Amino acid sequence: MRKTLFLTILAGFFLLSSCSGPRPADQDGSELWLAAGRSYEEILASVQVEIDLRQPAEGYHIYDEGGVRHLAASSMAGVRYGVYALMRAEALGQAGPGMDLREHPFYAIRMLNHWDNLDDTVERGYAGKSMWEWTAPDIPEERIRRYAELCASVGLNGAVLNNVNANPRILDAEHISRVAKIAKILREYGIQTYLSINWASPIHLGGLKTADPLDPAVRTWWEDKVAEIYRAIPDFGGFLVKANSEGQSGPQDYGRTHADGANMLADALSSFDGIVIWRAFVYSPTSPDRASQAVEEFLPLDGEFAANVIVQVKNGPVDFQPREPFNPLFGQLKNTRMMMEFQVTQEYLGFSNHLAYLGPMWEECLDAETYRDRSNSSVADVITFIAGVANTGQDPDFCGYVFAQANWYAFGRLAWDPTLSAEQIADEWIRQTFRKPAGLSERAFEARFVAPVRGMMMASREAVVDYEMPLGLHHLFGGTHYGPMPWDRTPPRPDWQPPYYHQADAEGIGFDRTRSGSGNVDQYNEPLASQYDDVETCPEELLLWFHHLPWDYRMKSGRTLWDEICLHYDRGVKAVEGFQKTWAGVKRYVGPTLWQEVADKLDIQKHDAEWWRDACVGYFQQQAQRPLPDDVRPLATPIDSLIFRQIRSDELGMPLHDEQHRPVILPPRRRN
Ligand code: GCU
Repeated sequence: MRKTLFLTILAGFFLLSSCSGPRPADQDGSELWLAAGRSYEEILASVQVEIDLRQPAEGYHIYDEGGVRHLAASSMAGVRYGVYALMRAEALGQAGPGMDLREHPFYAIRMLNHWDNLDDTVERGYAGKSMWEWTAPDIPEERIRRYAELCASVGLNGAVLNNVNANPRILDAEHISRVAKIAKILREYGIQTYLSINWASPIHLGGLKTADPLDPAVRTWWEDKVAEIYRAIPDFGGFLVKANSEGQSGPQDYGRTHADGANMLADALSSFDGIVIWRAFVYSPTSPDRASQAVEEFLPLDGEFAANVIVQVKNGPVDFQPREPFNPLFGQLKNTRMMMEFQVTQEYLGFSNHLAYLGPMWEECLDAETYRDRSNSSVADVITFIAGVANTGQDPDFCGYVFAQANWYAFGRLAWDPTLSAEQIADEWIRQTFRKPAGLSERAFEARFVAPVRGMMMASREAVVDYEMPLGLHHLFGGTHYGPMPWDRTPPRPDWQPPYYHQADAEGIGFDRTRSGSGNVDQYNEPLASQYDDVETCPEELLLWFHHLPWDYRMKSGRTLWDEICLHYDRGVKAVEGFQKTWAGVKRYVGPTLWQEVADKLDIQKHDAEWWRDACVGYFQQQAQRPLPDDVRPLATPIDSLIFRQIRSDELGMPLHDEQHRPVILPPRRRN
């Protein structure tokens, strides 16, 4: 009798706990951040829409009056953004009675740049083939709609469809008509379509002998081409141009300047209100400091660009490294409109394998003071428009990793409002992406899931900096830009070789950009120039970007530079181990599919972080000839076995891993 009673109580207990415990939905990541809450249509139907021409372009006002929720906007775009804002507010529990929210975007152009090729590969893409499916018989309408919805929900309003290393065929009749079909869908969501062009198109496509911007036949060819595009796409946005950069042709091939080239295209586009986005990502192998070259080439042209030309500037002066100072061009151009170019795809931050939330990196850049003007001259203030290199592909979740989706989201939100904090954006993203498990209170969800995951995201970028290249080190990559190769001297140009950047030898390490070195510090306005120049005042996080220092240099902590480098690398690995623990701790609150995806990726990240630490510390140790400090764990793999290590990749360039999530290593292939 007592036994039966005991068993009944036990069964009751299990029944109760299985009902009352959190019951997470089994999500697969394909809903992205539109997973939680009501649908767009439901929300639209629930508000009183008013067309109010006093509202700013693309802006909205949501307010309650007489028990009715109103959404006032001056355009369809404003209505759309208002509905999504309400969706977000609902998911965040901020849409209660009395809601009053007025917003409009900070930048008029907020675009994604897709580096998609016409053969469906994606340059630096880590989420499958091109989402536009250029080689398929027809366009993937459903996916494009979904993409457009996601963009619109965070306020993005432009898309460059193809790679900056552009195939001239993008402008042939067949591709223009295909682009027109895509543009027709994007237009419904308020997104304007742009294309990257190949400078030499008049030669390759038009059969001309030259692409000289001052040649009348070349000008006419572009005018005709632009007219043809606008016949197919009346609201076409314009061209993005990579010229005289990394082997691409450009006006300098004909003794002309970037301004000559940009202005010629600008003329052809101006009567249609189109724009030219001209990239400042230029550097030549012969210059002593790659970081100085954009200013050297573009400052003399300040004021010479036509009104509809925008110069697109990468956030840092080298190339989307985990940490760079802001690009000094932002503080130099005064009479040229500039567009920020961020990289959403994680070319240098572990592809779609590593958790690296980029909100803090972009925030750091946007908030940086350029001292260009007396006031309002942070990077966010001096730019006029903003672009991000997309991380999208054909993968069902678009990005190849749920945490990579956060970067698309964060880019859109910062493009809308650069004053938002990265932390707030992470918080929003988590709550909209991971549905709250049934049976869990809001408070418990916040404390047990949202807060730890937010903490992990906020720490993730610095973790990558630590295990890849701390203290201002940069470009220590091997050819694919995934793994470490600080020793690599095989690339054909010195400025593609890591030793060019770290300059490590028996005495010390770092790139001397001070006044006694390359002088790059003087491309920054005072007081930054002197601050960076002086080793005492240079922020330690940028120390080896600006200074070459002896291994025994004393850091603020009292430790030597060598010890501090080792500590940072090991700290990066420890941070990833911490993420693994955090993720194990939230298992009850996430559906099994997503939980497993993240757990697997964190295993890969942990292996990679160790690989980075072992390779960089092991290699620098050969120069420094010093022991590891006591509080740093011994390296797991000796440097000799890492030097020739190469990881097998799939046909799209993603590194392959075995069942234990360890990288698949190619048989050793000694290089000469
Ligand atoms: C980087 C990247 C290239 C890209 C280039 C660019 O160097 O590795 O793939 O083409 O940037 O921005 O033009």
